[in-house]
Amino acid sequence: MKKMKGIILLVVLSVSQTIGAQTKIDPSTIKDKMQWFADAKLGIFIHEGIYAVDGIDESWSFYNKKISYADYMKQLKGFTLKNYDPAAWADLIKESGARYSVITTKHHDGVAMYDTKMNDLSIVKKTPANRDMVAPLFRELRKRDIKCGAYYSLIDWSYPDYPGFLKDSSRYQVYKDYGRWNRFRAFFQGQIKEISEKFNPDLWWFDGDWEHSAEEWESQRIRHIILDHNPNSIINGRLQGYGDYETPEQNFPVTRPKYNWWELCMTTNDNWGFHHDNNWKTPYEVISIFADVVSNGGNLLLDMGPRADGTIPDEQVHVLKELGAWNRRNGEAVFSTIAGLPQGHYYGPSTLSKDSTTLYLFLHGSSGGNIMIKGLVNKINDITVLGSNAELTPKIVGKISWSPVPGLVYVNVPRESLDEYVTVLRLKLDGPLKLYQGHGGLN
Ligand code: GLC
Repeated sequence: MKKMKGIILLVVLSVSQTIGAQTKIDPSTIKDKMQWFADAKLGIFIHEGIYAVDGIDESWSFYNKKISYADYMKQLKGFTLKNYDPAAWADLIKESGARYSVITTKHHDGVAMYDTKMNDLSIVKKTPANRDMVAPLFRELRKRDIKCGAYYSLIDWSYPDYPGFLKDSSRYQVYKDYGRWNRFRAFFQGQIKEISEKFNPDLWWFDGDWEHSAEEWESQRIRHIILDHNPNSIINGRLQGYGDYETPEQNFPVTRPKYNWWELCMTTNDNWGFHHDNNWKTPYEVISIFADVVSNGGNLLLDMGPRADGTIPDEQVHVLKELGAWNRRNGEAVFSTIAGLPQGHYYGPSTLSKDSTTLYLFLHGSSGGNIMIKGLVNKINDITVLGSNAELTPKIVGKISWSPVPGLVYVNVPRESLDEYVTVLRLKLDGPLKLYQGHGGLN
């Protein structure tokens, strides 16, 4: 019984978290600036920080008392970035097929990854790296036409005027000491201004909004600071309702989200930063999740955690390269497409061209044989397997000649034309997609 309760609670919690995060921004006012994001589909998240020195949880390790704050901060001494090659990072990101990248400018631990003037806690002033990590990466990304995003933690568990970092011992409560809270506000909003002016991010990826309300953070004001500088900046949904899009994390939503724009952020193993963690997702797993996300109208923000010297683990590189090779074979079905068939018409992910005259069907795994589509009213002009360019012929089954109910479409996909990971069929239709969604039978 106890276990059952736990399960029910979990379901309720995750639903309310998603609803709670819903944005207060009217989608029609931001539609134009969101277009590149909607077309981009794939971003690479980068969690690089002093936590990579010991390979421990980013910031959370001291919050959760796995390590003392003092010991956590000793990692400052080991953060070198000595083999950091921003051009190589940008090359890899480009090769993966990603259209944007989001890098940590400051995590909850408060260590700025750039040269902040707002305090001394930065890798420039406090670590042997002694350099700004963000500027050179943005430069290299922009040379390659990749949009640049700044991850910024609102929470700062190091700043003396922040209300606290240990679960059980807050330093003070905001409503009891507004003077202190205002000092913290001036500090973090100053950093936001600084990041705007220095790097002009195309996208802001806030994190940690759950510790305070929109009023306390002054979310609306933060939006203004950003948009006054660059009206086209996109802001993620972790700003207590004042962001432009939603950010489910790690787990894929079971049903199609109703949001206009959303992005699944996901680790490649089980951790955001570099860790001694070998539970790498395989290229097949990443690609099949990616297909599922795109099929449901979202983006994937796939994370990598480089080492403290700036090198990237081989397993990570492998996944990104395989994803890139798959995108080169199948990208036509992914980039600049729109969400595919609603559930029930095809058992797998699908996407559509923007004019919905081309339907792309994704086949999971290496299973050849027949696939089936239900309720497709259109005539199919031709079917091609992306990558192999094999031409296939559909068979229509169960069509009653005088009934408007369409027959089932069966397509036999021969083994030799299958993709190593996820195969894509391109179906050219005789016009914009038309679906039959009735009860079958004679009408
Ligand atoms: C969570 C964690 C954080 C991580 C982020 C990425 O909110 O607090 O450590 O950086 O997810 O999505």
